[in-house]
Amino acid sequence: MEKLVIKGGNPLKGEVNIQGAKNSVLPILAASLLCEGQCIIHNVPIITDVDMMLEILRSLGVIWQRQGHTLIVDSSKANKYQIDDKLMRSMRSSIFLLGALLGRFNNALVSRPGGCDIGERTTDLHEKGLKSLGAQFGEKGYMVKAPNGLKGAEVYLDYPSVGATENIMLAACKAKGVTVIKNAAREPEIVDLQMFLNKMGAKVSGAGTAEIRIIGVDKLNGCEHRIIPDRIVAGTVLLATAMTKGDVLLKDVIPEHLELIIIKLREMGADIAIGENEIRIKGTYPLKPVDIRTAPYPGFPTDMQPIMMVGLAIAEGTSIVTENVFDARFKHVGEFRRMGADIKISNKTAVIKGVKRLIGTYVEATDLRAGAALVIGGLAGENTTIIEKVEHIDRGYEKIEELFGRLGGNIIRIKE
Ligand code: EPU
Repeated sequence: MEKLVIKGGNPLKGEVNIQGAKNSVLPILAASLLCEGQCIIHNVPIITDVDMMLEILRSLGVIWQRQGHTLIVDSSKANKYQIDDKLMRSMRSSIFLLGALLGRFNNALVSRPGGCDIGERTTDLHEKGLKSLGAQFGEKGYMVKAPNGLKGAEVYLDYPSVGATENIMLAACKAKGVTVIKNAAREPEIVDLQMFLNKMGAKVSGAGTAEIRIIGVDKLNGCEHRIIPDRIVAGTVLLATAMTKGDVLLKDVIPEHLELIIIKLREMGADIAIGENEIRIKGTYPLKPVDIRTAPYPGFPTDMQPIMMVGLAIAEGTSIVTENVFDARFKHVGEFRRMGADIKISNKTAVIKGVKRLIGTYVEATDLRAGAALVIGGLAGENTTIIEKVEHIDRGYEKIEELFGRLGGNIIRIKE
């Protein structure tokens, strides 16, 4: 059992390079299964979700090697299309392998990924899309096959689901003919996936807009690619700096991916200067309240909601946060209250009355981003915060104690 122990109060100061994006690398690793060659992928964060995805790929016959933040993945000898139930359930993102397995083998035998701590997370849109391409679903779990091969089709998504868009893109790359995804998700990670697929020889266009077009090809080759910076990790550092009244230069970021987060932080009073691949933030006191409504990109990211909320918990006034993407993404509120936050929930809305300070205590990371929010609450708060269930945070943040420790945060990991 590992815990994070944080003594709050140090303003964060210095420079930090932002890690590669978890939500880019996971579908990209799944995509590597489509090619019968070697892919060299740089800027891969060392996080447990990547470890899990690599374990699944190994179980399918994929050979890979890690050299620091570079991964060399060779799928030429992949020979299985069945994923062990336990591995499948270990991470929600295993769902991407459905599209990739279908694209590679016209067959996939996997179990349904479960719901999770932030909402029901159904997969109806993934299924609808893959069925349009000719996939046939068995009765139990996902015993999926395309006996006549996949065929391009027009797919309309009732909601711009990130995962469904990516899964359909993966399956469509090797389908016969043209696939058009309408009302596609527009997240930067989808643009990164398109870049990776095209480097492998796929013909994908339109990522970043609501319509993605994929012309199927017979074969995909190996390629070299660098994962984009993680906009949510960058957003976490920005909030932490604003809350501790620090002064930090974030390097290796794409400011345009953080546009709405920057707008909201400026409304909160933070002083932000933007460079080409850099953002400099200086926290000022007191933070001002703002209202947030989460929405698919380019709207305010749901993954930043808990992180923003912990900042608003110490703003001078009342803020309203509306969660529109997931149906159960307020579980962190109970933990914030334990630290002294004044937050009331009614359905999709949280009303946050700013308090003067958060006070450290024992808290539990209820999921990945909620855990990160508790870390920055602890860094800005008084006394000592002890965070349990750190494994949630390790899914997406590479050694969070080192990230904030380098900036002067008093945070250590202990094993018990
Ligand atoms: N949805 C459906 N049907 C579907 C798919 C989704 O109703 O078939 C609903 C979900 O239940 C949810 C909403 O659509 O309410 C959004 O889900 P989406 O499919 O867009 O999300 P996802 O692909 O499951 C990715 C990220 C999440 C991030 C969301 C939204 C990855 C690996 N995960 O999930 O990241 O919150 O998009 O931006 O890309 C995180 O990093 O902490 C995280 C949870």
